[in-house]
Amino acid sequence: GENMLWGGRFTGGLDPLMVSYNESIYYDCKFYAQDIRGSIAWARANLKAGILTPAEFAAIESGFEKVKAEWEAGTFKIISGVDEDIHTANERRLGEIIGKEIGGKLHTGRSRNEQVATDMRLWLRDELRKIEAILVDFLKVTVSRAEREIDYIMPGYTHLQRAQPIRWSHWMLSYGMAFASDLERLREVIARVNLSPLGAGALAGNCFGLDREAMAKELGFDGLLWNSMAAVSSRDFVLEAMQWGSFLMNHISRFSEDLIIYGSSEFSFVRLADAYSTGSSLMPQKKNSDSLELLRGKSGRAFGQMAGLMMTIKGLPSTYNKDLQESVEPMLDHIKTVSDSIQIATGVLSTLTINPEKMKAALDPFMLATDLADYLVKKGVPFRETHHISGQCVAASEKTKVSMDKFSVADFQKIDARFGDDILKIFDYNHSVEQHSAAGGTARKSVEEQITILKKISTNV
Ligand code: ARG
Repeated sequence: GENMLWGGRFTGGLDPLMVSYNESIYYDCKFYAQDIRGSIAWARANLKAGILTPAEFAAIESGFEKVKAEWEAGTFKIISGVDEDIHTANERRLGEIIGKEIGGKLHTGRSRNEQVATDMRLWLRDELRKIEAILVDFLKVTVSRAEREIDYIMPGYTHLQRAQPIRWSHWMLSYGMAFASDLERLREVIARVNLSPLGAGALAGNCFGLDREAMAKELGFDGLLWNSMAAVSSRDFVLEAMQWGSFLMNHISRFSEDLIIYGSSEFSFVRLADAYSTGSSLMPQKKNSDSLELLRGKSGRAFGQMAGLMMTIKGLPSTYNKDLQESVEPMLDHIKTVSDSIQIATGVLSTLTINPEKMKAALDPFMLATDLADYLVKKGVPFRETHHISGQCVAASEKTKVSMDKFSVADFQKIDARFGDDILKIFDYNHSVEQHSAAGGTARKSVEEQITILKKISTNV
């Protein structure tokens, strides 16, 4: 304990297992640059407040540049048992470089509680901005494929049963819309992450009159957290980011599940590029969609991290408790998982090939039974009646084993006299998708409208 920065009142040593149990340096060292940046802003505010002289500030600033260079070159030597976390490690090294006399002034009025919250927010903000750009790329791939492949028609499913014909583009855009909502949500999350806790102290604020606004501005924060206790105790920003990530991974998982099904031999609508598939060590013919299975599988890990942190935090008394250190590792892994997953999904979608013939072959005339009912609706027959009549046509087809599209006009008129001579025109899948021309439907103009909307969401950064 005596060697530690907080060791003034401690006499005995720590249990060696307690040392490693307590330390976070091996993972929070990821925040070295944010920690240094925050410390320089801190020192500048202390200069302005008259706590540091210009010479002391200059020494601190240039000392930190050296510490940063060591991290970047990989020459920073972490001292096990001494460097408990990134804050103590950076300060220890600064003291060695510029002397303990000046280095020791840096932490005036500052707490690691505000420091770790600052570091995490800066790191998370930057990572979420990168994810925003990656997500925009994914949407662009979706949009360009949807534009290019608008002509292909496939079965749309409910309950995994053939339901109604749709455009392949319409399927892609169904996920595109979900991811576009995720993009909008992400932008809202970033705004709440990007607020400054610096100047909140251990819990009670700062007594040296530091200019919090100036520090926030220097660090690129959009504003301040307005209550010092809330500022140091809250990990809502981590939770919200992970809730967001879980939401997105939920969409990624369902998207993957669809593609796994569509890629099976029984469907063969799509084929994954070799870059995103693997073989079997036993069965030579196998080509497995490991990328998609991992996307689906990793969503479980992402939800787990979010739920785990909810549990960690729910019963804590207010302000800082060491439990909060447990927010760091899930955040780091969650963000990496989400970022990697969007990029893999982008790769998969941009390289997979489709088999429009197989899509077409999977369409069957029963999928037009609703169109058959709608035909009579347009002739003024109430839908409940037309639904029943169409059902009779389906039953007749099943009984006679004659496909409905091979019925004659007379066959239809035997079932209901109101069927006209033009009834056979509904047995055309293109006609069917074009019938759904209200906004959001499968008609070409409706799909093109969706593309326009998605383009707008994914460009206005
Ligand atoms: N490593 C700690 C964390 O991640 C920093 C804050 C420690 N503060 C304290 N008073 N022990 O939470």
